[in-house]
Amino acid sequence: MRRKLVAGNWKMNGSADSIRQLLDGIKAGAAEVAAVDLAVFPPFVYLGLVEQQLSGSSIAWGTQNLSEHASGAYTGEVAGPMLQDFHCAYVIVGHSERRTLYGETDEVVARKFAAARKLGIKPILCVGETLDEREQGVTEAVVGRQLKAVLDLEGIAAFNDAVIAYEPVWAIGTGRTATPQQAQDVHAFIRAELAKLDPAVAAKTAILYGGSMKPSNAGELMAMSDIDGGLIGGASLNAQEFLAIAKAGC
Ligand code: 13P
Repeated sequence: MRRKLVAGNWKMNGSADSIRQLLDGIKAGAAEVAAVDLAVFPPFVYLGLVEQQLSGSSIAWGTQNLSEHASGAYTGEVAGPMLQDFHCAYVIVGHSERRTLYGETDEVVARKFAAARKLGIKPILCVGETLDEREQGVTEAVVGRQLKAVLDLEGIAAFNDAVIAYEPVWAIGTGRTATPQQAQDVHAFIRAELAKLDPAVAAKTAILYGGSMKPSNAGELMAMSDIDGGLIGGASLNAQEFLAIAKAGC
């Protein structure tokens, strides 16, 4: 039985004050949703604050990106060993905003995934198609290609220590959610791709859904057999909404 994970990707939002308040709210309600795992992903500069606030709690934390390199002359980048200093359990790699706005290719994403794993930080690999790609009927080809880049570099066993997030680009921040069946179909495809290589790994890999997930649709999405939680953007900035989504997964 896979445990559900409800993860909050805060993107480039928040301030020291708002983050303190948000975490107080989440901590206050965490015990009621103990049947699911919770994690939050602040901007890098608030990592120390988040670690301080969450140490000793049941809530995990991580970042929204990392460098593929371990150190060196890479101005503006943040390396995996730095995330280790702040005891990050997870790191998001290949979010569609990184792929589309910052030109991260499948190969770069695969190297970031490898850099995280090497340090024992669990990567959350994001995959997903654009609206154009869905309308052209190439969703599986796109998601399969994004997945294959990581499998080619790291092998199937890597997914023993990784999470996948299916985030259709057309559903991110648009208020337009994939239907439970649309999401389930892609999740089942992803699991089948893994199962071709190792059914046991496929059966235990958590596959999250992301894209306008909110309290009103989280229950029906997470009731689908291959949807193991959510990667939440907008709604994760509000403690009550984030907790209500987690509750829907309990
Ligand atoms: P929204 O929940 O705001 O659509 O964002 C989803 C997302 O991109 C999470 O990584």
